[in-house]
Amino acid sequence: MQKPKVFVTRKIPDKGLNLLKKHCEVKIHPHDHVISKKELLAGVKWCDALLCLLTDKIDKSIINANPNLKIISNYAVGYNNIDVKHAASKKIPVGNTPGVLTDAVAEHTFALMLAITKRITESDQFTKKGKYKGWAPMLLLGTELKGKTLGVVGLGRIGAEVAEKAVMGMEMNVLYHNIHKKPKFEKKYNAKKVSLSTLLKKSDVVTIHVPLIPSTHHLIGKKELALMKKTAYLVNTSRGPIIDEKALVTALKNKQIQGAALDVYENEPKLSPGLNKLDNVVLTPHTASATIEARQAMSEIAAKNILGVLFKRFKSPSLVKV
Ligand code: GLV
Ligand code: GLV
Repeated sequence: MQKPKVFVTRKIPDKGLNLLKKHCEVKIHPHDHVISKKELLAGVKWCDALLCLLTDKIDKSIINANPNLKIISNYAVGYNNIDVKHAASKKIPVGNTPGVLTDAVAEHTFALMLAITKRITESDQFTKKGKYKGWAPMLLLGTELKGKTLGVVGLGRIGAEVAEKAVMGMEMNVLYHNIHKKPKFEKKYNAKKVSLSTLLKKSDVVTIHVPLIPSTHHLIGKKELALMKKTAYLVNTSRGPIIDEKALVTALKNKQIQGAALDVYENEPKLSPGLNKLDNVVLTPHTASATIEARQAMSEIAAKNILGVLFKRFKSPSLVKV
């Protein structure tokens, strides 16, 4: 019997690829850059199962290109790059990779939070550039986290993990904004559900953990930034377009808030003009899930999502509910 064909849009860690290769014919797009639309179309037409990345826009034209496509397996927890509704209308399941990158992203969120409040990257540059001329009482003063309030926007797996680390590790207080109330979580961590405006007004650090959907686009804009304390920091490891980046640059330039630490951008990989010129920002290139552990586990889940759809004897760990 002919093996089912899997098209992978770019090389990913090998765990899932090795698994797929045991049961399927696997073609991996050979170039280590974002695949062109033309190459993507050709790959989709060829395959039974597509393994794609968050940088691949899987729109109607891609989905329509192969009426026999069996599954779209996204190598990411977020799936805003895929027209999931259209895929569902064609009865094509979409897979994602939740859970296994929660720790990586939560740790990275904390790394950003510590870096911006302790001015780590600024201090690193200062020291490396030879500007350190001796201990000084007013040199590069930062902020402490203990006893401060963390505002978590979106209390899903990642938001909850960040909140737990904040309470257990840093003795911070937690406010959260979420559709659902989480009574068990509230009790365990003495956390409180509040409106977004209350969260913005009261928090010393605001961290974003919502998915990108129409209702979260520009959730944090000029008006919301204006509610934040002058001494507050904003951290984003979710999706760039949730923050109005231009408004954020203005707020940072005007010292309306103290600082921001970002892993994601509104128009990746482009940065809004002026963002990279500011001292009060720490920027990483969408690498919050970039640990060997998380990326291998994501590779495995993305592969298993495919095998579960193609073969009765496997089970897909995570198909997106529409
Ligand atoms: C990374 O951004 C992901 O959604 O997995
Ligand atoms: C992601 O896995 C989330 O639900 O926060």
